[in-house]
Amino acid sequence: MQKLEVSGANKLKGQINISGSKNASLPILAATLLSDKKVYLNNLPKVKDIETMINLLKSLGSITKFNKKNLIIDNYKQNKKFASYNLVKTMRAGILVLGPLLAKFGNAKVSLPGGCAIGTRPVDIHLKSLSKLGVKYKIIQGYVHATAPKGLIGSKIHFSKISVGATENLIIASTLAKGTTVLNNCAIEPEVKDLVNFLIKMGCNLKWVAKRSLKIVGVNQINETSYSVMFDRIEAGTYLIAAAVTEGNLKIKNVIPKIIQTEINILKKIGMKINTKKNEIHIIGNKKIKNINIKTSPYPGFPTDLQAQIMVLLCKGNKKSLIKEDIFENRFMHVAELNRMGAKISIKANKALVEGNTKFAAAELMATDLRASVSLILAALTTKGKSVINRIYHLDRGYENIEKKLKKVGAKIRRVN
Ligand code: UD1
Repeated sequence: MQKLEVSGANKLKGQINISGSKNASLPILAATLLSDKKVYLNNLPKVKDIETMINLLKSLGSITKFNKKNLIIDNYKQNKKFASYNLVKTMRAGILVLGPLLAKFGNAKVSLPGGCAIGTRPVDIHLKSLSKLGVKYKIIQGYVHATAPKGLIGSKIHFSKISVGATENLIIASTLAKGTTVLNNCAIEPEVKDLVNFLIKMGCNLKWVAKRSLKIVGVNQINETSYSVMFDRIEAGTYLIAAAVTEGNLKIKNVIPKIIQTEINILKKIGMKINTKKNEIHIIGNKKIKNINIKTSPYPGFPTDLQAQIMVLLCKGNKKSLIKEDIFENRFMHVAELNRMGAKISIKANKALVEGNTKFAAAELMATDLRASVSLILAALTTKGKSVINRIYHLDRGYENIEKKLKKVGAKIRRVN
């Protein structure tokens, strides 16, 4: 099994180019199932989750081919409606093929996503909302068996809780439903907006009618499309924090700064110097890091996917900070490992009290999920000794070329078998 060896403590300096967004690419890839025409996708990140989603599409009959930077997807022969456990178990976003398969064929059998380390992560909101479009479903031996006997029929749906995945599944399903659908209390993460823009480019009829309301009028024809996926805002946030923890000086390129204004504002409050240009963020670290209280919440709030990373930075704060995790119930697995490196973090329910003034020490560590893994790298980058991070397959699910990108700006990081 591969490991990462990371040592510090040098200041990161230079330029990092941000890849395409994993979390925007996944629903867009699922949505390509709606089409019988060719789709050309640009700026997909080269990470494991994208490979898994492409394999899932292939298992459903899609023909896919990389041509330079484009993935070409041809669905003219796509006719399978069965998404197997083997492909869905490692990646929860596999459930996103349910919406398009139902929209296209009126029936589908899709495995429930496997257990997930960061919480139980049910799909009840996806299923309840699909039933409002006329879907009948049963869960048999871990599979959702779903049919729409009269086809999907537009409806008014209010999501009981803001869910990124449920919003995406319903948006995709509604694009081919008969009549009009209005989705209320939608997730408005930039990745959801990117999916909507992609669908509009395919010829679907969608319009944001209020901050969290989307109106969709079903269409029966989809165009051949090419689309470039947005930048990965979590990757960008991770490297901004990497600059901050190492007192570095980084230019983060290929981004739209206003999309991550919340994160930029928080980093400024903590003491970082940040300047933005149209597609670039320049961050200069500060030896003095101020404490702050943070709560994760749906966009435009602070993202749960950056909670582990900002915690590393707050460990170096001048006083105590409090982090409240409001999205997932069990997303503090990195805490035990950070404490082994010398942090003083205590957890009570969904709150983590971070003591501050931590000088991390190198250690042998275990990655537990995607974002937790990267937080261990960030902590290791601040230490003089050599840390070894095990189980880095989590990291490879979502960070493209992380060692290469970090090495280029001066980090000592190496993958070993
Ligand atoms: C997506 C992101 C993930 C991010 C999360 C929150 C992708 C591929 N993943 O995950 O990186 O951390 O948004 O920003 O885009 N819930 C239910 N029932 C449901 C669906 C969700 O109770 O049917 C709960 C979840 O357990 C969680 C909360 O709602 O507590 C939000 O989850 P959701 O927004 O759906 O996250 P994902 O789409 O799975």
